[in-house]
Amino acid sequence: MSIARCHLLLLLLSTWDCVGIHVVNGLENGLARTPPMGWMPFERFRCVTDCVRFPKDCISERLIRRTANLLVSEGYAAAGYRYLIIDDCWMEASRDMATHELLPSEDRFPSGMRNLGNYIHSKGLLFGIYHDLGERTCMFQGPGAARHFNLDARTFANWGVDYVKMDGCFASESELDQGYPEFGRALNHTGRPMVYSCSWPYYKARPDFKLIAQHCNLWRFAQDIQDSMASVTNIMMQYSKKQTELAAHAGPGRWNDPDMLVLGNYHLSYDASRLQLAIWSVIAAPLIMTNDLESVRPEIKNLLLNRDIIGINQDPLGQPGHKVLTSHNIQVWIRPVTPVSNFGKKSFAIAFLNLGGFAECPLCPQVYKVQLYRLGLNSRRGYNVMDLFNRSHNFGLYKPKDSFSTRINPEGVTFYKFSVLPPKG
Ligand code: GLA
Repeated sequence: MSIARCHLLLLLLSTWDCVGIHVVNGLENGLARTPPMGWMPFERFRCVTDCVRFPKDCISERLIRRTANLLVSEGYAAAGYRYLIIDDCWMEASRDMATHELLPSEDRFPSGMRNLGNYIHSKGLLFGIYHDLGERTCMFQGPGAARHFNLDARTFANWGVDYVKMDGCFASESELDQGYPEFGRALNHTGRPMVYSCSWPYYKARPDFKLIAQHCNLWRFAQDIQDSMASVTNIMMQYSKKQTELAAHAGPGRWNDPDMLVLGNYHLSYDASRLQLAIWSVIAAPLIMTNDLESVRPEIKNLLLNRDIIGINQDPLGQPGHKVLTSHNIQVWIRPVTPVSNFGKKSFAIAFLNLGGFAECPLCPQVYKVQLYRLGLNSRRGYNVMDLFNRSHNFGLYKPKDSFSTRINPEGVTFYKFSVLPPKG
């Protein structure tokens, strides 16, 4: 690593202590103290509405009940995935003529949303729903919230909704800037606590993240994720480009949302699946799966249920991490986490990425070696190192001047926790 790069890195690391978690101006509805975890159908099930031809895949109460059952029976709920969020395409094309209330599709949600909400709650899960701030939802399927903010917020509260994903299609920039805060106030006025997920920054040329973090519990900052490694790395790149700003406004109650976890579908390899999970945990992203829980392969399910990695994602410091170093196609991403020593030294989760493309062998494993102090790990008593993908693999104690080396699969990641030592007894 060059000296200039190393200085830049240390500068970055030291600013963690003065920015970020102390910006106390979030929505403060008491919710989402750690990034929300759950499931949402959109990337996997899109807007399939033909339940005759595609009975298992259409957006319907059958899919939602089946997923609720699987979240619980397969152990996902116990691991923390509790928000079951219905995405777009749940509505009738028009509001109720008399009351102007939103109507769920009669064919696909015949029991109604309040009953479905009761079912979700009866499984110990939380109920999320999609809406749009503008004239129509993004898939043109249903009416947006325009001119009906209070009514729609009340409707959601009556249905027992716990989480609202508010999209921003068919709204102008000024409607977005006024509408997101206004709908947030409408939610608060109902008296029912509902997590408020905003797509606001995605629809803005120059988003004001300070303002957005005052009104939303989470916010989408990039385009829709697709089921591919290229899409995952593209979103990571967008995060790293703006990471100082994005991380500064996140913390308990307010999170950057890079979109869903696509693990368990068709295209991510095992290594790429590890990579998405590791980086989503480093940047304190919501862990919202989009997959068919009935057909997730066992090795991918084990990744999704890895308690050590979920522990990093949900770390109580609530401080999002950064990319701190790029050397050829190796990247290092770091997040400060608990435990914190009695001298205020933090522990770290560190992800080492091999993005491939090396001249001598584009898709080979690569060995990467670094002295820990170069990554800002300077607790003189050292760090206990554990492989987050395999907790039985304990590397023992490393001091700041020790070199740590890791062998990283192509288009893959290694991910470790460097824990400060507990106080001397
Ligand atoms: C937008 C959002 C997606 C999804 C679709 C549904 O594209 O970004 O996450 O909600 O709308 O139409």
